Amino acid sequence: MKRLTDRLGGRLAYGADYNPEQWPESYWPQDVQLMREAGVNLVSVGIFSWALLEPKEGLYEFGWLDRIIDLLHANGIAVDLANASATPPPWFSRRYPDSMLVDVNGIRRSYGGRQSFCPSSAEYRAASSALTALIADRYADHPAVAMWHVHNEYGCHNWSCYCDASAEAFRRWLQARYSDLDALNEAWGTSFWSQHYYDWAEILPPRTPSYHTFANPTQQLDFARFSSDELLDCFRAEAAVIRGRAAQPVTTNFMQFFKPLDYWTWSQEQDLISNDHYRLAEGLGAGGATHDLAMSADLIRSLSDGAPWLLMEHSTSAVNWQPRNPAKPPGQMIRDSLTHLARGADGDLFFQWRASKAGAEKFHSAMLPHAGTDTARWREVCALGAHLGALADVVGSRVATRIAIAFDWNAWWGVELDSHPSIDVGMMGQVRRWHRVLWEQGIVCDFVHPGRDLAGYDVVLVPSLYLCTDEAAANISAVAARGGSVVIGYFSGIVDQDDHIRLGGYPGAFAELLGIRSEEFSPLLQGEQVRVTSKSDDAAMTGDSVGTIWTELVNIEDAEVVAVFDDGPFPGGPVVTRRALPGTGTAWYVGTELDTAAMTGLLTNVCSAAGIEAAPRPAGQRPDLDVIVRQSDSATYTFAINHGAQDVPLDLTGTDLLTGRPWSGGSSVAAGGVAVIARPLPA
Ligand code: GAL
Repeated sequence: MKRLTDRLGGRLAYGADYNPEQWPESYWPQDVQLMREAGVNLVSVGIFSWALLEPKEGLYEFGWLDRIIDLLHANGIAVDLANASATPPPWFSRRYPDSMLVDVNGIRRSYGGRQSFCPSSAEYRAASSALTALIADRYADHPAVAMWHVHNEYGCHNWSCYCDASAEAFRRWLQARYSDLDALNEAWGTSFWSQHYYDWAEILPPRTPSYHTFANPTQQLDFARFSSDELLDCFRAEAAVIRGRAAQPVTTNFMQFFKPLDYWTWSQEQDLISNDHYRLAEGLGAGGATHDLAMSADLIRSLSDGAPWLLMEHSTSAVNWQPRNPAKPPGQMIRDSLTHLARGADGDLFFQWRASKAGAEKFHSAMLPHAGTDTARWREVCALGAHLGALADVVGSRVATRIAIAFDWNAWWGVELDSHPSIDVGMMGQVRRWHRVLWEQGIVCDFVHPGRDLAGYDVVLVPSLYLCTDEAAANISAVAARGGSVVIGYFSGIVDQDDHIRLGGYPGAFAELLGIRSEEFSPLLQGEQVRVTSKSDDAAMTGDSVGTIWTELVNIEDAEVVAVFDDGPFPGGPVVTRRALPGTGTAWYVGTELDTAAMTGLLTNVCSAAGIEAAPRPAGQRPDLDVIVRQSDSATYTFAINHGAQDVPLDLTGTDLLTGRPWSGGSSVAAGGVAVIARPLPA
């Protein structure tokens, strides 16, 4: 990211996807003039331009792209140049029909939308690499080009394909993983249901099987792994073509918690991490969308190993793809943008610069609305540009925390396979609830791959880790062994990497760490709940509560009972347990879906025992006032974002970078407003 912000003169990035090909060339001078007015310094160009850049096979037309890149450069606006591989033109799909996606039911999907290709198609791969090479050769040395935008949101519309070419690629991937068929038969448990394979050619993607039955779960799991890797191969190939020709940083835009792609693997291949985030209007409950934004930013910062990252897309106002698409009320766009910055972004970009007048996204908001510049939206876009201009000091600073949530895509794929104890147990429900408890308390939290270095964390939370390797289990257990705290949620540690049950009692991988052994699960029916009574006298859980979704029969081997079920299938049985390890180490188990109050009591207790406190904020102001601190070598930057309707006093001294005025003990963050208070660190 530093290479990009250096290229931008040490400023935060501000801009959007820019699709000049949707407009007559006569509009372009006005576009760049208005970009300057808004403070735009970076635009993504060419993302969906393949059909115009290659109107016929092998015939390329770069003239228009040359002209717009030159014009942007002449106006001091840098370019995030795409390799245009996101959607092949209709002529391509017609000429190479086998390149189009086949779904799980064997139906070939058509072109006419976007990302209409099969990731394993040799024709697609050859054509996209050829186009990428031409673009990289032509623009690698152009002074406007500050970075490269490979493809767009890989897998958004084609995360897996079930065609014959994909089947062949899947078999190659399996041969590399298992070497021989015996190993595959063992891993897939094919002695079950007469599924033994005698020839690699017999193996298929998990296409829809006969009525009312399940495909082999390990086959499904491996296919999810393969599908993520297959798209990553596409990225690698295109990025390699660019890196062989150009020196600017290369990225592709992520979609935060996007189930099909294992971003822990993908992030290793990026020169800088970039993300797209859109606010959901419905479905997350009160405050849920604001929390979702914070949680997304925390994941992306973690995928970036704590280093600054780029918000590649968000919206100035409404999107077009939800059932109902409300506008953002005044101030929300600025609060959203600053929340991404507060949580580690070094730039805010939008989809898109000028609102389209045709096509599927003509009702999607943009920096420049249909109604033009005499609009509240445009004025807010300019105000945000001025804010970002005033925040240059923040560039390169980081967010630090000593608490992390263990998160793994393999566990996500595993826990949401079919034929499980309850469809109510998935990955994001649990993760979202636990993260939200911390967010409500003003505690900033990282995400971490369970197998990677956990040394920087005193508290590791494991809301959901159904599938867990031996190495990851040992890694997590080591946190408690060295004096940290670990909290494990129900239905974690159940299977190994092949989705085989860990025998001897649940939660297999963590039973020893927790000092418990569960013998049976009994998930609750829809609407059912159980009463939970606290047994602990140290306020670990404040009072009684209710559990939903899950119960199980827990035996204590070497742990303290913190709470028990009062009723339900296992009355009197332990539900929350704690094992003290030598020193300060503790290992907690939570055997039901505790209500928010109980979960808040438990997690705040764990955090305060580890000395992890919320950022400074007035009592009772959560979640209205979000306070997050970024720190550089020389200063701290306290971002204060007021989502509420009242002014909130914030007792700090420093300078508000947004106004340039001193901030003192008596200052308040205005209702709906933002402040970024800089305080020099002692020399
Ligand atoms: C993103 C995509 C953009 C645009 C945007 C609309 O998923 O990358 O091209 O479609 O959504 O919200």
